[in-house]
Amino acid sequence: MIIWKEPYFYLETKHTSYIMRILSNGMLHHVYYGAKIPKEDMGWYQLFQGKGFSPAVTVNGLVSSADLIPQEYPSFGRGDYRCPAFAVETADGRRLNELTYDHHEILEEKPALPGLPSLDVNMEESNSLAVTLKDAACGYEVVLHYTVLEEEDVIARHTEIRNRGKDAVYVRRAASLSLDIERDNLEFLSLSGAWGRERYPNRRPLSPGTTSIESRRGSSSHQLNPFAALASPDATETAGEVYGFSLIYSADFQILTEVSQYGCTRLQAGLNPETFSWKMEAGETFVTPEALMTYSGHGFQEMSHHFHDVCRRHLGRSAARDMVHPIIINSWEAMYFDLSEEKLKQFLADCEGLDIDTFVVDDGWFGRRTDDQSSLGDWFVDEERFPGGLHGVAECCRNAGMKFGIWFEPEMISRDSRLYKAHPDWCIRGQEEPVECRHQLVLDMSRKEVVDGIYEQMAAFIREYDITYIKWDFNRNLTDNGSFFLPPDRQREHTHRYMLGVYSLMHRLTETFPQVFFEGCSGGGGRFDFGILYYMPQIWTSDDSDAAERLRIQYGTSYAYPPASMVAHVSACPNHQTGRITPFATRGEVAQMCNYGYELAVGQLASEEKTMIREQVRKHRRLDEMIQRGIFYRLCSPFTGNLCAWQMVSEDQKRSYVMAAFLMAEPNPGGQYLRLQGLRKDGQYKVEPLGITAGGETLMRAGIPVIAPQRDYTAFAFELEWLSE
Ligand code: DGJ
Repeated sequence: MIIWKEPYFYLETKHTSYIMRILSNGMLHHVYYGAKIPKEDMGWYQLFQGKGFSPAVTVNGLVSSADLIPQEYPSFGRGDYRCPAFAVETADGRRLNELTYDHHEILEEKPALPGLPSLDVNMEESNSLAVTLKDAACGYEVVLHYTVLEEEDVIARHTEIRNRGKDAVYVRRAASLSLDIERDNLEFLSLSGAWGRERYPNRRPLSPGTTSIESRRGSSSHQLNPFAALASPDATETAGEVYGFSLIYSADFQILTEVSQYGCTRLQAGLNPETFSWKMEAGETFVTPEALMTYSGHGFQEMSHHFHDVCRRHLGRSAARDMVHPIIINSWEAMYFDLSEEKLKQFLADCEGLDIDTFVVDDGWFGRRTDDQSSLGDWFVDEERFPGGLHGVAECCRNAGMKFGIWFEPEMISRDSRLYKAHPDWCIRGQEEPVECRHQLVLDMSRKEVVDGIYEQMAAFIREYDITYIKWDFNRNLTDNGSFFLPPDRQREHTHRYMLGVYSLMHRLTETFPQVFFEGCSGGGGRFDFGILYYMPQIWTSDDSDAAERLRIQYGTSYAYPPASMVAHVSACPNHQTGRITPFATRGEVAQMCNYGYELAVGQLASEEKTMIREQVRKHRRLDEMIQRGIFYRLCSPFTGNLCAWQMVSEDQKRSYVMAAFLMAEPNPGGQYLRLQGLRKDGQYKVEPLGITAGGETLMRAGIPVIAPQRDYTAFAFELEWLSE
């Protein structure tokens, strides 16, 4: 709900209030964000006072300074020395910015963000506010957009900058959101990592000065995810205050915090100003990516639930609840590049009876691609290895009762390819020879003819083979940023233009082929973000398929993203990434919480393992509804102890699934009670395989017994079913 009661804006979700007010000098003062409070006159709620070395400003009859006042969208050069939310320069070099309130509108429709992924919101469920601020001297406007998602306790924000002047201006910085919280004891949690170990939670106290996470890789990155939380020092999974922030964007970003001299913590999220700039001609508008913010008064878990709910209910195709996430078998770790018609047909024969939904032929089927040195961009079948195309394989796949899926890496080009011979200028390059990574170059997706060319190839293939599943990979980051096709003063627009081009391709393909189920991927989870999840309902969480590593990766990823967005597969042992040996059953249980599948040489499995696959597939079908729509609880962290445990509870709380995995076996071990969460307090639950019946309250307060195993990497799983009173 959004209420305007001059001079206040009250934005309310089910459990939170967000309050701002217009000050006498036109400044937009951020008053409060946190647990819900009444809509009162809070004129007394300010710490305004004059300060040395901070230029004076008189507001509401008090002398204060911009350096001290919490603001909605702070600017540079007029007395606030903290980090500005935006920076606009005019062609004649003016770079002082000062915004004052002009007008506002409470909108009936959530405004569209042209070319960008953003939340789909039915306005019966929410309200949108647009506050227009003006820089009178330079002639541009800044519109701050707020959409309130009441049920999910989330506020979506973005910013529009409109050039109302006669000349071009340059946007050097444009945060999607800026938030001033008058506290200096908050802790910062981010998800950081590397290839093969993505999104480990990293928590540290903030101190005076800036702390920022960012990407300048042209991708949201394996290293730092576009998500952050600010938490009270006492915050745990289930208690304490936590603010969560996330961007719906997949390229260069920055999430920055600054703790000021007067104890205010400023957080900004948006495009990375270091690699970005945008020229706006007179009359043009620039729209930032959308950012999400939420507040939880009950720890990190509730913050995660808010993001999970928004993702499942309002994020493009992720919200397409009727799309069944198929159980897949993928060729990569089974065969890598060593593909042939005969091998694939044999593989399919080996899969008979496993009841898997979709077979995905990964890298290696196109051009002359027998290793990673060639053919990206040549999206037609290698006739030498597949005479007559992939029709024989596709038919065999369908005869085996499976749908046919395929791998593409649409944004890339190999020097050794027909595409490169035909269009050597299609790759991103500067004056120098472009830098190769995995022997490949990146296509300049900021150019329409490049996007069109790739679209035509992919569309023809999808039609010819009646493809229903596409894994979309992205195996390197951008270098040589810039384009010969942009004028000198637009070079810094390139990375954002690249991303807009990629989104346009994703948009076109998903619109034209709604039957195709897309899986995002970037060397595993190198582009795991809400931008990709807008177009693709699930993402390959990591190239690391080792069960012990996946405990950490999936646990960390769940801080921002729901299990329904993650893909996990059972793979072979010794594991190809770590050399580790884990029990087959553990590999299955660890993967069960995600969208499920296999990638191993089925023909080399023992018959007991094949029997286990059939059981695991049956189990996944039983759990799938809960994984897609249920509520996820982190019970024990693999980052702090030897036991990792999580739990899913169905929406109606009548069913639950619990997974508890011990890492290393210990001598003479004991055991422990695992306290469950999210259960009904009335009635009883049957808990299998314990064979017990107990009340939800008992299971949550006393817990279920888990005896420590005498074998490394042992996982236990429990299924609960509610029995009426
Ligand atoms: C990286 C992906 O994450 C893998 O699953 C596989 O598709 C390879 N690329 C193929 O090159």
